[in-house]
Amino acid sequence: VAGAGKVQAPKGTFDVLPPDAERRRALADSAAGLLGRAGYGEFETPVFEHTEVFSRGVGAATDIVQKEMFTFEDQGGRSLTLRPEGTAPICRAYAEHGMHKLPQPVRLWYLGPFFRHEAPQAGRFRQFTQIGAEALGSEDPSIDAELILLLADLFEAVGVGPVRLRLSSLANADTRRAYAEELREYLRQHEDQLSEEVRARLDLNPLRAFDSDHPGTREAVAGAPRLIDRLEPDDAEHFQRVRELLDEAGLEYELDGTLVRGLDYYTRTVFEFESERLGAQNALGGGGRYDGLVEQLGGPPTPGVGWAAGVERILMAAGEPERPAESRTVFISYASPAHQRRAFALLRALRAEGLAAEMEQAGRSLKGQFKHADRLGARAVVIVGDDVEVKDMKTGEQAPAADPVARVMELLR
Ligand code: HAM
Repeated sequence: VAGAGKVQAPKGTFDVLPPDAERRRALADSAAGLLGRAGYGEFETPVFEHTEVFSRGVGAATDIVQKEMFTFEDQGGRSLTLRPEGTAPICRAYAEHGMHKLPQPVRLWYLGPFFRHEAPQAGRFRQFTQIGAEALGSEDPSIDAELILLLADLFEAVGVGPVRLRLSSLANADTRRAYAEELREYLRQHEDQLSEEVRARLDLNPLRAFDSDHPGTREAVAGAPRLIDRLEPDDAEHFQRVRELLDEAGLEYELDGTLVRGLDYYTRTVFEFESERLGAQNALGGGGRYDGLVEQLGGPPTPGVGWAAGVERILMAAGEPERPAESRTVFISYASPAHQRRAFALLRALRAEGLAAEMEQAGRSLKGQFKHADRLGARAVVIVGDDVEVKDMKTGEQAPAADPVARVMELLR
């Protein structure tokens, strides 16, 4: 707790200050453009849901549901949860609005805050932001490929640098159940090597052993059977077609039979993008197919596929922009309080023309005002005295202007 009554933001949360907010806005704009052109419509769901959306949707055996949810009771005694992810809510909404009656697939994208009670570290927060895209109502492998390529395109467009794409298939629920049994048997034979956590969850979710960084567990799983080698013919065929489309598009990926993801709803395709520029929390984004999820949440049987990417991690990987865009700000200074009204009118007139305009509002001396205009990187300064002059901050040239708005527009052209 901070001293002297100073209150701080809760652990794992952060404020977004203006320069960062602009970068977030630019990223959101890139995503909106890219996904909009691909036919994805922007979609919003509430920030909290009935808890069962996640306990049923994400899976009772997952870390998210077992220990990371911000769950609370409302005044009516209903259990609500701040959303830890966006896919289950979208499937809830798809069922609720009868969206299976729309032309399929229904393509949606979203951006907003998500909440997980994790131990904060670089790139891992308790409130973070995801950009996500989902396509519901078709199992065509070209949609899996389309989504993976769109995420790769987004990373490229915003300059996150080199990424590594891991790709696998998690088969269907039946195959996975049989495989989980096989894996459980195998791991039992190596039980003394396993971490306590993996051992404790052997019954519930043996696949999570692949996510462990415990040395003994890693050694044990190295020789374990792989789900990717157990695919039934139609799942294998589906995966093959996804791969062909990615190959044809020239996107590099690594086949990785150890990729299991932290959510239980996946079927068939799964993938994850990692950045070399991030530390331990190196996952930029990931996703996959979830053909049973809508039905699990009470809707009709509906295939679906999608991804989500972390906005904070994307911006960390992208780093600072090389060169800030050239300023187009106009600053209005004035010589004495008597000139403030004229300055204020000019401020309004410049803004009405769509220009970025600011005026002196902190009682600085004229000299201080010019210093401030420099600090803002103003392209032009309007000086209001008994006459009005306009200074071109690039050339230093300053001259009286009968029509200052026209003069400024000319400079900025
Ligand atoms: P996820 O892998 O849990 O998938 O999260 C997606 C991305 O959100 C991660 O790759 C990471 O960039 C970011 N992220 C997750 N947790 C945190 C955190 N605590 N702090 C900062 N960033 C974080 C999903 O959420 C699935 N709903 C993706 C999906 C969509 N699958 C199908 N459709």
